[in-house]
Amino acid sequence: MVLVVTRDEDNAPNLAPIAWQCPLNYDQVTKLLIVCASENKTLRNIMQTGKFVVCLPHASQVEMVKLLGSCSGHDVNKIEKFGIRTFSSGRFQMQVPEGCIGYIECEMFKTVEDDDVIVVFGRAVYAAVDEQAFSDRLMPERPEGKTLHHLGAKIFMVPGDKSI
Ligand SMILES: Cc1cc2nc3c(=O)[nH]c(=O)nc-3n(C[C@H](O)[C@H](O)[C@H](O)COP(=O)(O)O)c2cc1C
Repeated sequence: MVLVVTRDEDNAPNLAPIAWQCPLNYDQVTKLLIVCASENKTLRNIMQTGKFVVCLPHASQVEMVKLLGSCSGHDVNKIEKFGIRTFSSGRFQMQVPEGCIGYIECEMFKTVEDDDVIVVFGRAVYAAVDEQAFSDRLMPERPEGKTLHHLGAKIFMVPGDKSI
């Protein structure tokens, strides 16, 4: 699962967990998609600015993830409310939570609507990663590479140490 950082047209930042996401392509440019409920502030922001940042939270950030999913940026500035420490992403200067394993800055290039959800397609323009967590691939056998996997409801899992 990922955290999606956006900002609105007044530059107010927002952060939301998104479990439904998928890589789409990597040649010649990395593309991915996220599935957003149409009422979410995240979707509104993406439609306004055309930009979003996909962050890979570390497993140790699970409580922060739950908090960020508990309310909407329509009602509150979640970064201030939960005291989340952030740094500026490379190109968009959006607020990425400290401690994330990595992030990908994306430009939205297409949306597909289905009932009350919108599939948002993003093209990567910049990415950065904790080099302790990646070496050609994600290294979940290292403490730094422990990603977070959402199983539904409030249940999450962490990858094990053995590749099979
Ligand atoms: C673990 C987790 C996974 C979630 N996955 C999704 C998702 O894939 N798509 C979605 O639209 N909302 C998802 N949500 C719900 C949104 O994160 C939640 O509605 C959030 O408050 C939306 O915030 P926003 O209005 O500021 O965008 C998830 C929430 C949690 C806690």
